[in-house]
Amino acid sequence: RSGARVERLPLARYTTLGVGGEAEVWFVENHAQLAEAMEQPYRVLGGGSNLVIADEGVPERVIRLAGPLAERDLEPDAALSTPDEVVTGWVGGGVPLPGLIRQLQRLGLSGLEGTVGIPAQVGGAVWMNAGTRYGEMFDGLHTIEIATPQGVRQVTPADLHWGYRDSGIPRGHVVTRVRLKLRRAAPDEVLARMDFADHARRGQPKMKTPGCAFKNPGGVSAGKLIDEAGLKGTRVGNALIAPEHANFIVNLGGATAADVHALLDVIRARVTVPMELEYELWP
Ligand code: FAD
Ligand code: EPU
Repeated sequence: RSGARVERLPLARYTTLGVGGEAEVWFVENHAQLAEAMEQPYRVLGGGSNLVIADEGVPERVIRLAGPLAERDLEPDAALSTPDEVVTGWVGGGVPLPGLIRQLQRLGLSGLEGTVGIPAQVGGAVWMNAGTRYGEMFDGLHTIEIATPQGVRQVTPADLHWGYRDSGIPRGHVVTRVRLKLRRAAPDEVLARMDFADHARRGQPKMKTPGCAFKNPGGVSAGKLIDEAGLKGTRVGNALIAPEHANFIVNLGGATAADVHALLDVIRARVTVPMELEYELWP
């Protein structure tokens, strides 16, 4: 009715881990298409960089933002910007974050460069307030537009209880677009901060992975705890606890979701400090 493109697709293709069976994917380009997609049980797929999806796939509709909801307008909003601070036009939730970060650097817009190297989409990165030690998504947000089955609303960061890897936005509420709030800075200065933040990734594995498995409990590195439990290099099927960094599980090729779940159980059994899972498991 609304004209959304709907296709049954293997989700492995849409995840950085490269695991996941089929589902009905709804590519939504506007609010009317999104509203129709949300009429039945659904899940929201961003860059697929924090997901472990079952080999059987999922029964719900999988919503992916496309078209105008994956486009960006970085022109400073004349009414909201000042000589030092820029509030941009709308940036779609479906925009890939890495390209956006590079573009902001070239434009001399500072505030989000600490998130360099996070392979998310803007919507997914906002939904979980992705970040590093050098910065997080909520450092650069002015307005967040959120769609729910009850309607669309706009909020500011002050309206949300956000924190470490958490935006306070309920699961299933879709971040459709945001306006960014950034400082003007010399592009070289932004680049230097990006390089510095990127340097912290030199010890992370380069293979297929959904990023860190566990959140750092109370500021302690979960990777260090898993490492100290002697678990680096533990393998189940074709999934491996990375020898480079113990909080990363990598797909050696042909791993299944069950392999990853088994490794998560090994970690939970051996690390005594309680750790909260960072990944999302579907279903
Ligand atoms: P997905 O993985 O597609 O989805 C994750 C969750 O977000 C799901 O609940 C999904 O429903 C929800 N979601 C997705 N899009 C939307 C939307 N538009 N609206 C509402 N909800 C949505 N994370 C960090 O924080 N810091 C890091 O340094 C970091 N490094 C990483 C390095 C690598 C190599 C990899 C593979 C991952 C890394 N991650 C890191 C993890 C991951 O990139 C983040 O968790 C990111 O926020 C996930 O965003 P996504 O768009 O890929 O979301
Ligand atoms: N360490 C070990 N063994 C390991 C891993 C780490 O001893 O196997 C030690 C390191 O030597 C270092 C300390 O633990 O002294 C911290 O390690 P690192 O610098 O790699 O940082 P981290 O706390 O493990 C966090 C984020 C990453 C983010 C980096 C860089 C979490 C869960 N992880 O890792 O985010 O990229 O800092 O800012 O917060 C993610 O969230 O998915 C993610 C990759």
